Amino acid sequence: MENFTFYSPTFFAFGKDAEKDTGKLVRRFGGTKVLIHYGGGSVVRSGLLDRVKASLEQEEIPYIELGGVKPNPRSGLVYEGIDLCRANGVDFVLAVGGGSTIDSAKAIAAGVVYDGDFWDFYSGKYIEEALPVGTILTIAAAGSEGSPDSVITNENGMFKRGATGDAIRPKFSILNPALTQTLPPYQTACGITDIMAHLYERYLTNTPEVEVTDRLIEALLLTMVHEGPRVIEDPNNYEARANIMWAGMMAHNNSCGVGRSQDWNSHNIEHELSALYDCAHGAGLAVTMPAVFTYVMQHDVMRFAQIAVRLWGCQMDFAHPEVTAKAGIEAFRRFLISIGMPKNFEELGAKEEDIPKLVKTLCYGDGRTGSISGFVTLNEEDCANIYKMMV
Ligand code: NZQ
Ligand code: ZN
Repeated sequence: MENFTFYSPTFFAFGKDAEKDTGKLVRRFGGTKVLIHYGGGSVVRSGLLDRVKASLEQEEIPYIELGGVKPNPRSGLVYEGIDLCRANGVDFVLAVGGGSTIDSAKAIAAGVVYDGDFWDFYSGKYIEEALPVGTILTIAAAGSEGSPDSVITNENGMFKRGATGDAIRPKFSILNPALTQTLPPYQTACGITDIMAHLYERYLTNTPEVEVTDRLIEALLLTMVHEGPRVIEDPNNYEARANIMWAGMMAHNNSCGVGRSQDWNSHNIEHELSALYDCAHGAGLAVTMPAVFTYVMQHDVMRFAQIAVRLWGCQMDFAHPEVTAKAGIEAFRRFLISIGMPKNFEELGAKEEDIPKLVKTLCYGDGRTGSISGFVTLNEEDCANIYKMMV
């Protein structure tokens, strides 16, 4: 295991009606003037926004609002949010929604207290300081409710980049599984896929002897394989929603990723797709992961064979471990299709003729110099081959 530090001070309030304590939590974490940030309207339609406002009013905490966050959140609204916060003396940013809303809120929170362009953080600058952020999560997926990360799409070129810093870890996150019951099945499945991607991308490590985190990841993946189909079958299954919601947080606050190298090539390859085609991140990952895994499998075939046996119940073929490894990847592919995820470029809305463009932004954006690195280093040709496998 490698040396590590781990700092994850988010306060979690989990369970039915947990959002009724929003006002108290904002006060506890120092907020006196709040920006409520939300998405395209699901929280208005569900009545959640009204309940959140009522809770703030009960604590006599003034607030302003900024809705309109789109999935794959855009830089333009972040600039607007920063100006709004400064003009109104906001000292706390409250995200009500999914990963996109939370990430936009984090970007605003970092930008308000920064003299330069907030995009500097999405070009590699570490976030040292930010307004406090609180979240009320409405979809189990991105894990942003417990992560130090934010992903924003730059409208000037439509490319997606991440920023990081413990300062943007939420001060509190309210996780009420019942709030996710209004999700359309497709979005639920996208969330399940993203959570599993966060686990797989940590599982693909070059660090030896990481039994504790291997086993934690396997437990969370097994939970997703058990609960995923149950919630697709019955969207009102509160217990399944609850297990998925907490798994989604644990998958990405890095408690199961410490002390080990991680992959993230699938995420990087996918981010180009959701930036260019505006597809859901989870759907992009469903098409990306089987292709990447198949392409890199030989790098450590025993690792893929191990997960095939432990997660998918495949029979270990000691003479031909690549057979076991491949069977595990195919079982994962079938699982993703079974919950309603797309399987190729066409179903995702991506175009084969765009591959050179995708490869260029992937391999040369974000300060890269012709390759991406993770579990293995992939050059331009590798990336092009992987995109072609998804067609
Ligand atoms: O905008 P509204 O109207 O709220 O609708 C949303 C949106 O259309 C809808 N939705 C959310 N909760 C709902 C609901 N509809 C009905 N009932 C509910 N309870 O679902 C749609 C998707 O929402 P979004 O916030 O985009 O989903 P998600 O949480 O999957 O976030 C995706 C974003 O997170 C980024 C992705 O790249 C993507 O931009 N990621 C962020 C990470 C992080 N910060 O740590 C890590 C991830 O790997 C990921 O990259
Ligand atoms: Zn993700």
